[in-house]
Order: sequence, then C-alpha cells, then structure tokens
Amino acid sequence: MHSMLSRSLSYSTKNLSENRSVLIVGAGVAGPVLAYFLHRFGVRPVVVERAPQLRTAGQTIDVRGAGREVLRRMGIDRIIRENHTQEEGVAIVDSAGRTRAAFGVESFGGQGFVADIEILRSELVRILYEHSRNHTEYIFGDHPSSINDRGDHVQVTFASGNVREFDLVIGADGMQSKTRRLVFGNNTSIHHLNVYTAYFTIPYSQSDGRWARWYNAPKERTVLIRPDNQGTTRAVLLFRTSQRGYEDLDVDMQKELLRNVFADAGFETPRVLSGMKNANDFYFDAIAAIKMDRWSEGRVVLVGDAGYSSGVSGRGTTLAFIGAYILAGEIGCHQDHTKAFIQYETLMRPYVTAAQKITPGSIRVALPKTRTAIALRNTVLSFAARPAVTGFITKLTKSKTAEKVTFPDYETILAQQ
Ligand SMILES: Cc1cc2nc3c(=O)[nH]c(=O)nc-3n(C[C@H](O)[C@H](O)[C@H](O)COP(=O)(O)OP(=O)(O)OC[C@H]3O[C@@H](n4cnc5c(N)ncnc54)[C@H](O)[C@@H]3O)c2cc1C
Ligand SMILES: *[C@@H]1O[C@H](CO)[C@@H](O)[C@H](O)[C@H]1NC(C)=O
Ligand SMILES: *[C@@H]1O[C@H](CO)[C@@H](O)[C@H](O)[C@H]1NC(C)=O
Ligand SMILES: *[C@@H]1O[C@H](CO)[C@@H](O)[C@H](O)[C@H]1NC(C)=O
Ligand SMILES: *[C@@H]1O[C@H](CO)[C@@H](O)[C@H](O)[C@H]1NC(C)=O
Repeated sequence: MHSMLSRSLSYSTKNLSENRSVLIVGAGVAGPVLAYFLHRFGVRPVVVERAPQLRTAGQTIDVRGAGREVLRRMGIDRIIRENHTQEEGVAIVDSAGRTRAAFGVESFGGQGFVADIEILRSELVRILYEHSRNHTEYIFGDHPSSINDRGDHVQVTFASGNVREFDLVIGADGMQSKTRRLVFGNNTSIHHLNVYTAYFTIPYSQSDGRWARWYNAPKERTVLIRPDNQGTTRAVLLFRTSQRGYEDLDVDMQKELLRNVFADAGFETPRVLSGMKNANDFYFDAIAAIKMDRWSEGRVVLVGDAGYSSGVSGRGTTLAFIGAYILAGEIGCHQDHTKAFIQYETLMRPYVTAAQKITPGSIRVALPKTRTAIALRNTVLSFAARPAVTGFITKLTKSKTAEKVTFPDYETILAQQ
C-alpha cells in the first residue's frame, strides 16, 4: 500500500527558489543528515547546537531496514562499515558471569540485538558532521530562546541575543526537544516507560572479550557491558521505577542514585560502578516515547526523537535517518512548505507507528522482577538462541512492511528539473 502511495505522489519541481534558508535545531543524528540532504536539494541549512561542541557521548547504535538505504544515498555506508564495533554477539549471563544464552551477530540475519552495522554514536555523529559541514553553517554553544512564526518567515531569537530570520525551522533537538515545547506547548503525549538508562565508558577488562554481556538482577535492573573498538568498554545501566524527575538531577546525584539502586546487583556491577566514578561521558535519561498527531505547526516541523522518540525499541537512529531524508526531499521538491510537511507526515507515519508498537510484555522480558522470573526468561532465551528458532523468527520479521523503502528517490526527481 505504501509503495503505491509513493508512486501516486506527484512532484512539480518548477519555480523552486534556491535561496530558501532553514534553521535546524540540534546537531545529533537527524540534524546533520537533514543538513546534508537539504544542501543537496538546493536549500541553505544552518544548524544550531546547544552544546559548545559535538556531543559524542553514547554507546553502540545501529541503523536498520530502510534507514540503510538513506546511508547509501548519502554515500557513507562504506565508511560506517569500516568503523563498526566488531562485537561478535550478545551473551545473556547470570550473576556468576556464566553464559545462559548466546546470540551471534549472524543470528536473525544480522538484524538481532547485535546487528551487522553497529557503530559507536560518537563515530557516527562525527562522520555525519564531517559530511555535512562543508555546505552548512554550524553554530555551537547557542540555542533558540524564542521562535516566532510570522506567516511568511520565522523569526528566531537566540540565547546569545542574536535575532535571525529563516524560511523554516526544524526541531532536531532530541527527546527533550525545546523546539517542541516552544511551538507545541503541552500538546504532546509523552509515554513514560518508567525506565531510566545511563551510558558511560569504563576501562576494558579481560573478561569483556568481544561479546556484549547482558545481565539481569532482581527488582528490574539490567547491567549491559559492551567492548568497543577503541580499547575501552561501554556500560549501560537500566532500571525501572515509577519515580519521576531523576533526569533533572545533576550528574553527581544521578551517579549516587545509581550506586544505591545497583549496590547489591551482583555480577561485575561493582567494577561498573567504580568505573562510573571517573567516566566523563556519563549520560543519563528517562526512556519515553513521544506521540504526536502532527509534527508540524505553521513553518516549524519536528524530526527524529523530538517528534517521535520510540523509547526502548532501539530504532531511534533508523527513524532519524529516514525522517531527515524524507523531510529534506519534500522541502526540496515543494516551494509550499505546507505541501512538503503533509507529504513528510504521510510517508513517515507508518515507520513511526511500526517502531513505536511495543510487543506486549517486552519490558517484562528485558527487566524481570524476581530471581525466578529471570531464570525462566533465561531458559526461554537459551531455547530461542537455537539456529532453527532464530531462522524462523527472522522469516517472520522480514515480512514487516515498514522495513520497505516506501519513499521516493528525490535525487532523480530533482535532477529532472
Ligand atoms: C549525548 C547523547 C548520547 C546518546 N546515547 C545513546 C545511546 O548510547 N544509545 C541510544 O540508543 N541512543 C542514544 N542517544 C539517543 C540517540 O542519539 C537518538 O535516539 C537517535 O539517534 C535520534 O537522534 P536525534 O538526532 O533525533 O536526537 P539526539 O541524538 O538526541 O540529538 C539531539 C541534539 O540536539 C541537541 N539539543 C538539545 N536541545 C537543544 C536546544 N535547545 N538547542 C540546540 N540543540 C539542542 C543535543 O545536544 C543533541 O546534540 C543519545 C543522545 C545523546 C544526545
Ligand atoms: C573510521 O574510518 C576511517 C576511514 O576509513 C578511519 O580513518 C578511522 O580510523 C576509523 N575509526 C575507527 C574507530 O575505526
Ligand atoms: C570538505 O572540503 C574539504 C576541503 O576542500 C575536502 O578535503 C573534503 O573532502 C570535503 N568533505 C566532503 C565530505 O566533501
Ligand atoms: C493545542 O491543541 C489545542 C486543541 O487541540 C489547539 O486548540 C491549540 O491550538 C494547540 N496549541 C498548540 C500550541 O499547538
Ligand atoms: C496546557 O497548558 C495550559 C497553559 O499553557 C494549561 O492551561 C492547560 O491546562 C494544559 N493542558 C493540559 C492538558 O495539561
């Protein structure tokens, strides 16, 4: 159905002005991809990033499905493969560190927990910046304090006091998007999953090998240890609580909180907590899904986590690539931004809906409550790790329509001008 939809879209690219300027808020993943394609499609991108330089914290992330087609069209698939993390798989371990179930990279056709294109977020963000910076005005250490849609342009006042005008403003400023709050007020539904996550780098230890190790402690706590390709190890802590607001604490208090929550967790947790003390890339946030009826309001539109964070699905980066490409393509093809935004929403919605669909019970499986529940889960997973079962699951999931490329080839459309 979606491929019929994209075939029936008509693009008239006559009369496009080459001088339109677009402000992109946020230089994470979606922002630089958008800047790259906007330039390629004849629009002038300006990116403003609140941090004083690129924020290169984070763990291994991956790009899947139709997102990979965007990597190819951007011409960075090779360099991304060259920088992949070389993890060999993920092992589910018990408190003594014994493997209860193991999934190699090749299980699930390279689309399992550890996919065949995994890259450190720091590497990905750097590559995207390098590939967009030649044709983009990047401003670091500033952010919009007000956004006024004047009908025929948008006036943006920056925290620095600068005031500038743009044809369009795009919020690519992540799950806690300030652009979203400024423009949509409280018209956003934020689905808290009651899960907090922390990421940081710790020293490598012999026991880390080349496999990711996933450990569950009772009371809904997870410790994930992943060797990287830079001689260090990346740790992820996850825990579940109905308490709100921990994301607003300062870093020292967040670290103290984690030391308390994970004090008796077992496995190599003491080593992880001690490594956390000196980690200067510590990142902590609540996990939530952002659900909105519309992603645009007048001349302002949202892309990536700002508009459709998908929570625990692990598809945030894939959605950011697809969303940025479609939005850039539609803006490039339409002088009238309302048309561009409608097409963007129509083409993007199925990908977002599919990514935000939480398999019932999946959080229970990731964060079991009791020792008994953990043991049971591990037994089920050891069965699921058998090749016959992974092959069967791969066949089932391959049929998902949202994996298909249902967006146009904007390069070809625009070349026919
Ligand atoms: C530091 C960091 C570490 C992360 N680590 C992981 C990880 O380990 N695993 C994982 O799955 N996901 C991680 N994520 C989230 C992941 O990057 C996104 O889910 C996904 O890639 C979609 O990207 P995005 O560009 O929409 O948002 P993000 O990657 O979150 O990028 C948003 C950018 O906007 C900037 N920004 C925020 N507010 C403003 C403002 N008001 N003005 C200007 N700029 C602003 C931020 O500093 C950031 O650079 C991380 C995000 C960040 C920012
Ligand atoms: C990433 O790839 C580039 C270019 O191939 C290379 O110079 C760089 O060292 C790689 N980085 C890592 C961490 O592998
Ligand atoms: C950016 O410009 C520099 C200097 O001209 C060039 O060496 C580099 O290859 C360009 N980068 C890209 C991605 O085109
Ligand atoms: C929020 O939603 C209400 C009702 O749907 C609408 O009237 C209002 O204009 C919206 N406000 C913003 C800022 O989008
Ligand atoms: C949204 O915010 C307005 C004030 O900005 C407030 O009056 C209203 O109650 C809020 N609506 C909801 C549903 O929280």
